[in-house]
Formats: sequence, C-alpha cells, structure tokens
Amino acid sequence: MDLYSLSKPILFKLDPENAHDLTLKSLKWLERGAGALFPKPAPCQIRQLMGLSFPNPVGLAAGLDKNGAYIDGLAALGFGFIEIGTVTPRPQPGNPKPRLFRLPEAEGIINRFGFNNLGVDALVSNVRNSRFYQKGGILGINIGKNFDTPNERAVDDYLICLRKVYAHASYITVNISSPNTKNLRQLQDKDALAGLLETLKLEQAELAQTHGRYVPMALKIAPDLESEQIAEITDLLLQHEIDAVIATNTTLAREAVVGLKHAEETGGLSGAPVKSKSTQVIRHLSMHLQGRIPIMGVGGILSGKDAQEKIEAGASLVQVYSGLIYRGPRVVGEICSTLG
Ligand SMILES: Cc1cc2nc3c(=O)[nH]c(=O)nc-3n(C[C@H](O)[C@H](O)[C@H](O)COP(=O)(O)O)c2cc1C
Repeated sequence: MDLYSLSKPILFKLDPENAHDLTLKSLKWLERGAGALFPKPAPCQIRQLMGLSFPNPVGLAAGLDKNGAYIDGLAALGFGFIEIGTVTPRPQPGNPKPRLFRLPEAEGIINRFGFNNLGVDALVSNVRNSRFYQKGGILGINIGKNFDTPNERAVDDYLICLRKVYAHASYITVNISSPNTKNLRQLQDKDALAGLLETLKLEQAELAQTHGRYVPMALKIAPDLESEQIAEITDLLLQHEIDAVIATNTTLAREAVVGLKHAEETGGLSGAPVKSKSTQVIRHLSMHLQGRIPIMGVGGILSGKDAQEKIEAGASLVQVYSGLIYRGPRVVGEICSTLG
C-alpha cells in the first residue's frame, strides 16, 4: 500500500477543499526529498511535440496548482509536464465556498472555483523560484480572464497574461472553456474565437522576436460542443496555426451522475463521468485535424487503459487531474507503463 492509499480515507472524510489544500501543502515535503516515498514511473519513450521534448506523455492538468506554488513537489510525482494556472491578470478570490464537491460513487468531482488565483505577477514570481522549470522541466502556463472583464475586452486580459508569462513558460494554454466564469465559453464561438486567436498569434510572433524564443500556444476547449462547432474550431486552429489543442475541460452535462449526491451542484463535472464525452471530442478533432496539430487528451483518465483510449482516439499526450484525487500519484506511473 502506498502513502496515498493510506491517507485517502482520511482525506475523503475532510471537506473537499480543505483536503485539497492539505494535500497541496504536504507536497511541499516532496520538494525536500520525500519524493522517494512515491515510486518513479518507468522510463518512457520521449515524445517530440510543439518543438518540445516530453520525457513522458503524462501531464498534470491545469487547476490544481493555480498559482504555481507547488511546481517542484508536483514534479516529484513523476509527471512528464506540468500545467499551472488558470491565472488571470489581477488576483481574484473566486466563488464563495463550498465550491468543490466529490461524487465518489461515480469517481467524479464538481467544482465551481471560478479562477481563484493570486494574479499573474504572483505566479511568475513562483515560477522564477521553482527548480523544475529552471532545470528544463516542461511547464505549461494556462491563462484566462478576470471574472469582471467583459467578453468584449477579454482579449486584453489574455494579452496581459501572455506578455507576462511568455518568458517563463514552455507552452502557454489559452483557456476559453471553464464553465465557472460567466460567458467565458462564448469565446469558443466562431467570430469571437477568430478575433482572439488572430490577436494572440500576432502578439506571440512579436514576443518570439523580442525574446529570441518561440513559445508554443495551445487552446483548451470544452467537452460540451456540437460536432459542427468542433469543425469550426479546428478550421480556426489550422488557419491561425495554433500549436496544440487540449481537450477537454469539465462538463456541464449531468447524465452520467443522475441521482447522485451533489449531482445538481452548479459547476464543471470532471473525472470518470466526463471520460467518454472528452474522448468523443478528441475523436472529432482528430478526424478534422489529421495529425496536423497535436491533441492533448484530458478528461476522466483514472488508469492506463483510460489513457490508452485517449491515445487511440487521436491524442498524443494526456493530462490528469481527478485521477490524481481518486487514484493518487501512482496513476502517473501506471499510465506511463501502459503507454510506454
Ligand atoms: C477542482 C478543479 C479545478 C480546475 N481548474 C481548472 C482551471 O483553473 N483551468 C483549467 O483549464 N482547467 C481546470 N480544471 C479542469 C481540468 O484541468 C481538466 O480539464 C478536467 O478536470 C478534466 O480532467 P480530469 O477528469 O482528469 O479531472 C479544473 C478541474 C478541477 C477538478
């Protein structure tokens, strides 16, 4: 039995957000060498994508380390890459508590955090202090907009974050798919998205000149999209030469959890109940993209087999969040062994 299996029954008796905070704080130990408590994943084949060399295909999905405060501890769990954020230009507290709910019978989670974070300057300062990135670890920084910035000015928030994080990221994720910031997902609509991507690509080109380094940009999308919308998004990804697409964020759908305690809470549902929806979106993306833009698959990966399904649907890399809560850090090694 590993350390996580021993602590999980205790953690699951606590309020979910307290358990979450306690686990993250305990990760600080890992930075001090307790990483030895967790078995390291077996060596994997290196994946070359977006001009980066991923030492293994399993990444930490955005949202667990919103401020980049635990990067080195998380790296000790064996991830091939770590995505921090979502970060916004200004600090914001997020929605009132409670805002995190477990649905253990379904191995699901509902959250309505609402981009609680300390703002982009605090995140950058944390990244500067992390050894992982300085030593060449692959760090994604996921950017968003403040809750009180209207959609018509959303691009300004993304630009502020893009400029501030550019020098500190291996890749940057543009998050337009959280269900917990009012109307954010409307940025996935064709005209809004075309404008946003065009502006961000122009800025990326300028920043690449200034810094002498091209930092790839990924777009993170929702699972709640019709096939027509997915086709429109893929056209825009190709047209604007976006470097990767991350599919998917959490779902608003509840059919997989009907009747369960907390199923009716407002927020985004993740974990096992979003798995098939995410895989479906990846399949659609893959059909349209035909390998021209890499896909990172995320949503309900709780085992090596789940990860394999994402790869078979067309993903080149995977990310995990809820799987870490339900299965603990050993899920990273299990996925690595399955994917090889
Ligand atoms: C508590 C929680 C907070 C999240 N916060 C963010 C976030 O800030 N930004 C983001 O892009 N995704 C966020 N996500 C979505 C995850 O990154 C991931 O896309 C989604 O949970 C599906 O993966 P999973 O089933 O492995 O959890 C969050 C997920 C959870 C459970």
